[in-house]
Amino acid sequence: MWKKISNYSLIGIFNLFINYLFTKLIFPSARIIRLPIYLKGKKYIKIGKNFTSGVGLRIDALPEDKRKCIEIGDDVQINDYVHIGSILSVKIGNNVLIGSKVYISDHNHGYYGLNNIHSDPLVPPIKRNLSASPIVIEDNVWIGEFVAILPGVTIGKGSIIGAMSVVTRDIPPYQIAVGSPAKCIKKYNFSTKKWDIVKKRK
Ligand SMILES: CC(C)(COP(=O)(O)OP(=O)(O)OC[C@H]1O[C@@H](n2cnc3c(N)ncnc32)[C@H](O)[C@@H]1OP(=O)(O)O)[C@@H](O)C(=O)NCCC(=O)NCCS
Repeated sequence: MWKKISNYSLIGIFNLFINYLFTKLIFPSARIIRLPIYLKGKKYIKIGKNFTSGVGLRIDALPEDKRKCIEIGDDVQINDYVHIGSILSVKIGNNVLIGSKVYISDHNHGYYGLNNIHSDPLVPPIKRNLSASPIVIEDNVWIGEFVAILPGVTIGKGSIIGAMSVVTRDIPPYQIAVGSPAKCIKKYNFSTKKWDIVKKRK
């Protein structure tokens, strides 16, 4: 049994070493990016200091204007199987914590009323023109497991998004929002230093 444990930890150490080498080669400022990773458009991605990610990170950076479209601040931690897609702008601030299996995308396949443009459902989704609105996730935000963050959303600093939520509208700073669509349930009160209940979900 002891032999097994020591074997396992050796493999673990070896994996960590490989991941570390890969990280320093691809994004030298990052702390550790765990393999496997799927990366499209590396030159359009900016990653800050001490970035950490779990396994299975997928990033698609395909900006139409050929400028950096994904900017990640310092000390950001992302857990396993997160997918970030951008053709316009996704900005993630400093000290943001993102749970596993989170989806963040600034674009849709087609237009469904935005700018009064309406895509034809007889056109296959993959052939519809992409529509996009920027996403901003400010400093100190914590995003729970399985959250989806949809185009055009800003999540204010210090806010928390509960597990399994779908964020379709802006969330102001220092709030806890849950559900689909995500709605605020608590707000931090700096005078009392407590999270006040804002509203009961029905
Ligand atoms: C958002 C969260 C932090 C809220 O914690 P909390 O404030 O202690 O929550 P409470 O237990 O007081 O719940 C308040 C209300 O919100 C509801 N609620 C809490 N989290 C919810 C969620 N993720 N989705 C839907 N409703 C939720 C509760 O059912 C409760 O409703 P009620 O007042 O009608 O009974 C927590 O519920 C959560 O989702 N954490 C994420 C965990 C996670 O993903 N961890 C990964 C680590 S990176």
